[in-house]
Amino acid sequence: MDYLKLSGPTPLSGSIKISGAKNASLPLIAMTILAKNRVVINNLPNVADIKTLIKLLSNLGSSCEFGDHSIAIDTSGINQTKANYDIVKTMRASILVLGPILARFGHCEVSLPGGCAIGQRPIDLHLKALEHMGAKIDIEAGYVQATAPDGLKGCEIVFDKITVTGTANIVMAAALAHGTTTIINAAREPEVVQLCEVLNSSGVHIEGIGTPVLKITGRAGQLVEIAPFEVIPDRIEGGTYLCAGAITNSELTITGARADHLGAVLAKLEDMGCRFTIKGDSITLHPTHELKAVNIITQEYPAFPTDMQAQFLALATQAKGTSIIEERLFENRFMHVSELKRMGANITLNGNVATVNGKCHLSGTDVMATDLRASSALVLAALVAEGETNVHRIYHLDRGYEGLEKKLADVGASVERLKE
Ligand code: EPZ
Repeated sequence: MDYLKLSGPTPLSGSIKISGAKNASLPLIAMTILAKNRVVINNLPNVADIKTLIKLLSNLGSSCEFGDHSIAIDTSGINQTKANYDIVKTMRASILVLGPILARFGHCEVSLPGGCAIGQRPIDLHLKALEHMGAKIDIEAGYVQATAPDGLKGCEIVFDKITVTGTANIVMAAALAHGTTTIINAAREPEVVQLCEVLNSSGVHIEGIGTPVLKITGRAGQLVEIAPFEVIPDRIEGGTYLCAGAITNSELTITGARADHLGAVLAKLEDMGCRFTIKGDSITLHPTHELKAVNIITQEYPAFPTDMQAQFLALATQAKGTSIIEERLFENRFMHVSELKRMGANITLNGNVATVNGKCHLSGTDVMATDLRASSALVLAALVAEGETNVHRIYHLDRGYEGLEKKLADVGASVERLKE
């Protein structure tokens, strides 16, 4: 297994190009199951999760041709509708194929994703919504067996909780359903908005895009024609690198970003004393000589994203004063805390609330990544820690950050990828 060796503290300077959004790419790749044509997706990030979903689609019979940060997918060759455990277990977002496959073929078997490091992450809301649309759902031997021989029927769906991939799954199922589906309490994340925008421009009439109420007019099984499109920038990758600039007191620019997708993140960085210059798709963070403590509650978009919680917790260790960080979406998303404490951070955990007493001096040591965003928090801490830090099990990082060590090295970080 690979690990990252970093030495700190090192100031950064220069600019980092943000890749396409992992969490937009995954539903957009699943969406090709609804297409009659070969679909070209550009600005795809080169990360493990994308490769996993492409492998799943290929196993079902699709043909996929990779380009440079692009892919052409033709799903006309799909000849089976079972997504096996061996792939689904490595990436829960595989559940995104359930809605489109069921809508197109009338049957689908997907392994239950199982829990993951950050929490149980059930899919009950996905399944309940599909049943409401007329699907028969059985759970057998760890697999979801879904059938809808007469197709899915449009109806009103009320999500008890806001679910990002749940909303995406039902939008894709509704696209081919008979009649109109209204989703109430829909997710509004930019990744869901892009999925709706691409479908809407491909002949699936969707009203309320970007609002909590989506109205999708089904095409009664008629596949769509999808023109080439570009994946939106990854707002979480962008936010992570802004935190890298802030934690190292650097002047750092991220390019190819969407500041309008980072509202809550930029606001919290400003609360901590950071200042920015925004010019088109570039955001330049200016050195912040003293970071101020911050209070954060993670909630659904457009509020502060749970996927930035770990990074801000690392940043808060360098802020003067007491920061309170509450995680409201997942039940076990503080696994970075114990590793940060081993580096010298002063953090106390009480249920889903972390209290960080800064400013703490961090010392380099061996640390272990446990999940995607926790890993990036350890990298941020390593940039400012005194001495050498080895971040192990960075396959977690590779799931969602394209070329992280190169992007950081190119702006002055002392980081290299080594083999255990
Ligand atoms: C998406 O996961 C993201 N992944 C996650 O990013 C992100 O943390 C999460 O949304 C929240 O923003 C992708 O988009 C691929 P949810 P998702 O369904 O859709 C509960 C990363 O780091 N829930 O919005 O799986 C669930 O347990 C990843 O890039 C149910 O109870 O999350 C959670 O508490 C991590 N039943 C809450 O809803 C369901 O059927 C939000 O989950 C579905 C969800």
